[in-house]
Amino acid sequence: MSDAAAPRVAVVTGASRGIGLATALRFAREGWLVATASREPPPPGLGAAHLLHVAADLSLPGDCARAAEEILAGLVGRALGALVNNAGMSPKSGHRERLGLLHSTPAQWREVFELNFHAPVALSRGLAPALAAGQGAIVNVTSIAGHAVHPFAGSAYAASKSALSGLTREMAAELAPLGIRVNAVAPGEIATGMISRDYDPLVARIPMRRMGSAEEVASVVFRLCGEDFAYVTGSEVFVTGGQHLF
Ligand SMILES: NC(=O)c1ccc[n+]([C@@H]2O[C@H](COP(=O)([O-])OP(=O)(O)OC[C@H]3O[C@@H](n4cnc5c(N)ncnc54)[C@H](OP(=O)(O)O)[C@@H]3O)[C@@H](O)[C@H]2O)c1
Repeated sequence: MSDAAAPRVAVVTGASRGIGLATALRFAREGWLVATASREPPPPGLGAAHLLHVAADLSLPGDCARAAEEILAGLVGRALGALVNNAGMSPKSGHRERLGLLHSTPAQWREVFELNFHAPVALSRGLAPALAAGQGAIVNVTSIAGHAVHPFAGSAYAASKSALSGLTREMAAELAPLGIRVNAVAPGEIATGMISRDYDPLVARIPMRRMGSAEEVASVVFRLCGEDFAYVTGSEVFVTGGQHLF
């Protein structure tokens, strides 16, 4: 039985920095407990809200399965209110050209798909019973690059994010009868370690004429997991300052 007065619990992958860290901090600030999974732990700051960290390379299927098991064990019977599939990688070519089909290796494509696509599948499957118990929400962090060719994002990355957008639709339909909502947030250019000074010229094509912050993505993720969005599933919210309009 869930205790209505007990704090809700969110799982955030890739919370050691960037959008994931901002998301974990937002949930913590709102009174949630947070479980995290990435290779490095988040920096101090989550305080007592940090329920547990699983050190895992989520590009490895074995680590994904272990992460789901360790998170379930760490919940000690608590239900889950949210799963944020945020961990991701966007490999670049190293010589100022898009990492397209012709100059990338099968190993690179597999690693990108393992982390950006198969990890969300595995974690969502593994944590579904706890999410159903909590009538929780899943948010997949996709990308503007999954919807149109991007000047810097590589082909494997873009295709993996398109697949994650499609997965959001499939999971939303399948998990709705269990009471689990599934949505996606598609960031545009967000000032984190994933982007470099090379991205600065892109600001000119963003209608709002600036990059976004990790906190601006985190607030959308957080709101999607709350009661105000209780009848929203299978949606993808663009957090792009309008860049996706062109
Ligand atoms: N920044 C943008 O402009 C932008 C735009 C569109 C979409 N996104 C998406 O937003 C998400 C977060 O991106 P970000 O900008 O915050 O990137 P970031 O600053 O590079 O952070 C990436 C996070 O993913 C984790 N991660 C990377 N490889 C991992 C692995 N093998 N196993 C487990 N965790 C791993 C990292 O943790 P460890 O290194 O500690 O493992 C880190 O916490 C990604 O899915 C990205 O594709 C970002």
